[in-house]
Amino acid sequence: MKIISSIEELRDQLRGQLRTAFVPTMGNLHEGHLSLMRLAKKHGDPIVASIFVNRLQFGPNEDFDKYPRTFQADVEKLEKEGVYVLFAPTEKDLYPEPQEYRVRPPDDLGNILEGEFRPGFFTGVSTVVLKLFSCVQPRVAVFGKKDYQQLMIIRNMAKQFALPTEIIAADTWRADDGLALSSRNGYLSEAERAEAPVLYQTLNEVAQEIRSGHLDIFELEKKAMAKLSHRHWKPDYISVRKRSDLQPPSAGDIAQKAELVVVAAAKLGNTRLIDNLEV
Ligand code: PAF
Repeated sequence: MKIISSIEELRDQLRGQLRTAFVPTMGNLHEGHLSLMRLAKKHGDPIVASIFVNRLQFGPNEDFDKYPRTFQADVEKLEKEGVYVLFAPTEKDLYPEPQEYRVRPPDDLGNILEGEFRPGFFTGVSTVVLKLFSCVQPRVAVFGKKDYQQLMIIRNMAKQFALPTEIIAADTWRADDGLALSSRNGYLSEAERAEAPVLYQTLNEVAQEIRSGHLDIFELEKKAMAKLSHRHWKPDYISVRKRSDLQPPSAGDIAQKAELVVVAAAKLGNTRLIDNLEV
């Protein structure tokens, strides 16, 4: 595997490649990331991964400085997956001057849910992803469904800018007890780790109620939030949304059996976890 940090060198290395499959990451790779690499392999060749902890998508009080950086271990994992190039730019490589041009998603998608609790997050994500795409020029790129809203925003961005990159969605990788794998799980204490699967259990309970015809969405959300609070979580939201645009479903949408997803974000101790479940 070639490890490349400069944009020029990356372009030289990938010149003429028409079927590149790309998996952008922020490192600290776990089995979930590796499943993205495996899915990428089914859709293209060569595989290019990136590791870049993108300052633009972290708020001033978020964990940019303490975000886990495990470069050597990541390299070994990617080598085993047969990744051809690891693009690992420094901040100077990717942002040699302040990144003044940015991609701002529409407010009705970018400022809801995660965007409401993490202002500017999706502008930071969209900007870096567009820039990474411009460096790698992939035919396909793989994103996990765990970051459901991110996936939708990137997909819409690729469509609106007519990018020549197809966005592929990968299912969420879960531990045996249901907890969605995330680099931030490493922040959990032993007791918190034991409690953490309750988030997914709660999503399942909401989904189950909907499937069995309980359609008072507001009531379901309230009950789920109360359950987590009672167990000492601090939920930001548990919300039933339409899969098509992440807006709340109207009575008409529900009557017409619109496809739904339950999305959630909640803090357990100091760790903020997100998850979702399609109904
Ligand atoms: O999902 C992530 O790890 C990041 O948001 C991404 C897509 C690599 C952009 O920094």
